[in-house]
Amino acid sequence: MSVPLYDPTGVEPRSATDEQRAEGPLARTPDGHWMVLGHAEAVEVARDHETFSSAVSRFLQVPNGLDGAEHTAVRAATDPFFGPEEMAAFEPALRRIAHDLVDELIADVGPAGTEVDAVSAIGAVFAVRAQTAWLGWPVELEGELLQWMVDNHEATRSGELARTAEVAQRFDAIIDSVLAPRRELGDDAPEDVTTRLMRQRVTVSSEDGEPTGERPLRDEEIVSILRNWTGGDLGSIALCTGVLLSALATMPPVAERLRVGSYAEACAIVDELLRIDDPFVQNRRRATCPVTLAGHRIEEGERLIIHWTSANRDERVFADPDRFDPEGNAPHNLVWGIGKHVCPGRPLATLELVVLLQELLAAADVTPAETVGLRSLAPTGGWSHVPVVLSPRG
Ligand code: HEM
Repeated sequence: MSVPLYDPTGVEPRSATDEQRAEGPLARTPDGHWMVLGHAEAVEVARDHETFSSAVSRFLQVPNGLDGAEHTAVRAATDPFFGPEEMAAFEPALRRIAHDLVDELIADVGPAGTEVDAVSAIGAVFAVRAQTAWLGWPVELEGELLQWMVDNHEATRSGELARTAEVAQRFDAIIDSVLAPRRELGDDAPEDVTTRLMRQRVTVSSEDGEPTGERPLRDEEIVSILRNWTGGDLGSIALCTGVLLSALATMPPVAERLRVGSYAEACAIVDELLRIDDPFVQNRRRATCPVTLAGHRIEEGERLIIHWTSANRDERVFADPDRFDPEGNAPHNLVWGIGKHVCPGRPLATLELVVLLQELLAAADVTPAETVGLRSLAPTGGWSHVPVVLSPRG
């Protein structure tokens, strides 16, 4: 069976894969990687973590680049940071941050409203303030982190290794600036998420999986976890905000449900809007043995890319991928991944997005602006710019 070619360079991931899927659920990139575009195939690869390893980078990536027992142990040590009690304790601070940002955006704005970019002026600023508050980082880092997000986005898109290495180093320096004072303070360090992570212990197991003891997280593991919790996800929250506000600006009844409905209903709306236009495009895997997927033989060592944006719009599962059906589509939604590596940050990301939308929609009507938006190009999805008009309510 011949394999269709898919070149992701410079394309808009959603429309490009909508076309590509007509040729089959699997494709090959010009550099020989497998693109997993179909829903069933994405689920198969993500669930079979023994055949499809996540150890794809030469850099330490905790937990996303780990496999097996090592991965399980780190997830067990870090998932509790996103537990229900943690989220409930953070919610009031988050609401204040969202409320203050909305105040800043619409203060002194007349009834005609003001045009803002939902990605850079709302999503990115909120993401940085929310994440720094959650981690206990100084507010003075806001400007530096915002600039870092812009540079990181551009470096990722450029595909130039030297640029991505430079922004990665800058981020590590930021992380070091928050860890160093805590190390010096020792027991007197502030009781926040960052300090608690530094003190967190991981279960150590024997080769047959029996727990044999505990050890502290190593410094490089702490840095990698914090990089994962912030570096990648600041951008994702900003992109999600763009996708959500671009949709809600044209769906007043759904915006109204977010204003008056329950938290559970709001989560379902967010999940479904992100399924339709998933800005968190892809993750990588490596085949650990020869395997057949969708009728194609994949050799040991070959690389695969799970394309969540495409899988979330596979017509074999979502007959009309653009149809908004939160309840009907929820069981098949892959926005947060599936399997062992499923997003641990989902409760936090969802809380952040819902609280932001609730606070924004309580204070303002959001309508499309005349300025045309700009779609993101691979490897990011969603929108780079989403101009919307915010008009203060009543
Ligand atoms: C904003 C929207 C977000 C989306 C759409 C998203 C989506 C995803 C997806 C699809 C995966 C699966 C990766 C894979 O299978 O290889 C993942 C993993 C991960 N996410 Fe998220 N995420 C978001 C926000 C967050 C946040 C806020 C955090 C933490 C603060 C976070 C932390 C992580 C980590 C650590 C992993 C790796 C898990 C592992 O490999 O076991 N994410 N995310």
